[in-house]
Amino acid sequence: MTQRKPVTPSNPVVYANGRWVKQAEATVPFMDSGFWYGDGLFETLLVSRGRLFRPHKHLERMLEGLHTLDIRFPLPEEELIALMDELVARNGLQETTVRLMVTRGTLAGAPSDYKGAANLYIGLRYTQPQPEFPVRVAFVNEADYPVARRHPAIKSMTYLWNMLAIRDVARQGAFEPVFVNRDGLITECAVRNIFFIQGNTLRTPDLTLGILPGVTRDLILELAPSLGLEVDTAPIDRAAADAMDEAFIASTGIGIYPVAWDGYRHSDYATTHALREAAEAQVLAEVAP
Ligand SMILES: Cc1ncc(COP(=O)(O)O)c(C=O)c1O
Repeated sequence: MTQRKPVTPSNPVVYANGRWVKQAEATVPFMDSGFWYGDGLFETLLVSRGRLFRPHKHLERMLEGLHTLDIRFPLPEEELIALMDELVARNGLQETTVRLMVTRGTLAGAPSDYKGAANLYIGLRYTQPQPEFPVRVAFVNEADYPVARRHPAIKSMTYLWNMLAIRDVARQGAFEPVFVNRDGLITECAVRNIFFIQGNTLRTPDLTLGILPGVTRDLILELAPSLGLEVDTAPIDRAAADAMDEAFIASTGIGIYPVAWDGYRHSDYATTHALREAAEAQVLAEVAP
């Protein structure tokens, strides 16, 4: 998962609500609920060796979110997976990340009265070169960036505060913000989950804090015991982070990156690197034909 080099062509073929078109020519209906209200959901899926990694996990998360929003799932799961496979094949890609988006639909009248079909868009997520390790993170208060927290979390299109926090910390040279809630507890990053190693324990915030149940988070929690790690999801105080042996962030888009911040005396990240390798091996094993 982590050594792969995802590729996004500059003008890929995308799926825009029933039509295969070049991205530059793709359009969204003016009355799309996602455009008007952020009323929709998205998923980012990993493609390795031309095959989607755990597509059903992503669709399960999306289905739950759509149910919460009372949006009708646009297609049977297998057809949706076939469309994503087709997108990868049409672009001739082996290593990439797919961006799946579902909105309530093209509105006419009050959004609450809308009974029509959902809109479906499938494209490719941007790729960035891997920064030097450890990457810098910066802690920010959720009071300043009122991100939505609910349990179970939904991967909604309303990412305004996540994006603003990323831009703000980027100005300080940080790759990713780490949110601290009103109780002083670490929750997650703007677009990644966060983890710590303390002795032989893997620590990460619990989903009850309203954080996203990351597909990569699941993978890491599954692999931890095989590396002799215990898993603890007890609350993590911002002040406790400085005393952790290792820290890393994880998502579909980046895999696993070791992280550091101002005032953190970091280690060689031996366990983080071992988890990176284990995650990479597991992805390859699962996508093998
Ligand atoms: C807020 C947030 N947390 C965590 C993640 C990581 O989730 P995943 O591992 O499924 O990519 C994401 C991914 O976009 C995210 O947006």
